[in-house]
Amino acid sequence: MINVVLGTFFGDEGKGKVIDYLSQQSTMSIRCTGGNNAGHTIKVNGKKFAFHLIPSGILNSNAKAVIANGVVINPKVLVQEITELKEAGFSVDNLYISDKAHVIMPYHILLDKILEERRGLEKLGTTACGIGPAYCDKYERSGIRMEDLIGKHFSEIASRNIENKNVILEAFGHEKLDAGAIIQEYSEYANILKPYVTDTVSLIHEALEKNEKILCEGAQATLLDIDHGTYPFVTSSNPTTGGICAGTGVGAKDIGQVIGVLKAYSSRVGAGPYPTEQDNEIGDKLRELGHEYGSTTGRPRRCGWLDLVALKYAVRINGLTGLAINHLDTIGKLGRIKLCTAYQHGSEITTNYSTNLEFLKDCLPVYEEFEGNFGDISGMRQIMELPIQAQRYLKRIEEFVGVPIRFVGTGPERENMIVRG
Ligand code: IMP
Repeated sequence: MINVVLGTFFGDEGKGKVIDYLSQQSTMSIRCTGGNNAGHTIKVNGKKFAFHLIPSGILNSNAKAVIANGVVINPKVLVQEITELKEAGFSVDNLYISDKAHVIMPYHILLDKILEERRGLEKLGTTACGIGPAYCDKYERSGIRMEDLIGKHFSEIASRNIENKNVILEAFGHEKLDAGAIIQEYSEYANILKPYVTDTVSLIHEALEKNEKILCEGAQATLLDIDHGTYPFVTSSNPTTGGICAGTGVGAKDIGQVIGVLKAYSSRVGAGPYPTEQDNEIGDKLRELGHEYGSTTGRPRRCGWLDLVALKYAVRINGLTGLAINHLDTIGKLGRIKLCTAYQHGSEITTNYSTNLEFLKDCLPVYEEFEGNFGDISGMRQIMELPIQAQRYLKRIEEFVGVPIRFVGTGPERENMIVRG
């Protein structure tokens, strides 16, 4: 079975911490959607690693780290990550890259920036990594896959694509790209990456047949899903459970536990609707207490109260079997805490989330209030040890969505975590 860890809101829920814990017990870690727009930081032996593409399972030498077919790969970023790991003395012999994963080319990054600029005031707030344009080419069937990058015909395929993109770039008033320089640069990446490129579908199925412990490391999150998120303020992939089958080549029966990660409050980076946002001193306080600045772009994150209506939606979309709640210590530094348990839309009260932008803009969160001041909970190992007001807060979350809490983050360090069951 493949166990899954994924984000329930807008990303940045702290998936890395749970992934780090579970990947130590796994024999295979997989990334299956998105690209280097994702990022999580892991500290090992005092050294900080910021992974954008490589699954954090790479640090477990007994595990295979797989970048599966659903990922879009910027080879420059991947080569940098490999180099950084090698320089720190880690082996990357356990890295496997899908031959079917698509490659992010320089024109994707350029088009991402140009198109975002042209949106004027309606910007999506993309990470400018070229994710959207790379997935566009994939679905338009002109994408370049890893097997093309390392194959004999790369130069011809790339030349044809660059020629076509140059027509578009010129129409946007941008100068043409130099095909020769790009092909040379990418051929160098190809030489470095070639030993790792393989048929990951067979690799994953062989691991499944051997009953290995497999972990799928989610990137981005439910409300950024291209189908089920707050479109168009979303990313260009399916970072929900549905994206795992297509992004790895496994069947629904191969998916086991699905852990949804959230924070005890909420945050969002980039534009888009966010009913429980606190664009005030509470939001500012949460940002400072929780160090809410993007790990990929450094942008300050918008912060607000936890929204159980949206969490229930994430439970439904992903079939969550467990929750991991981070930053309980952070929210516990406030005196009073609010939890959104319904939306008021006109005269109606509802607990059903909708990604309709007008609905989200017009609805008012209905809050329940809880006592804060949890004190120092960083050393606690069981939910029963937590102060009663913290237990009440967690119980209400569990009760509302009907899914058990499996992990609780009680501080920034790896060991500051309650593991239940
Ligand atoms: P893109 O994925 O770069 O196209 O960006 C689309 C939207 O998704 C923007 O609002 C980004 O800020 C957001 N986004 C993409 N990746 C992440 C992530 O890993 N964490 C949080 N937000 C993300």
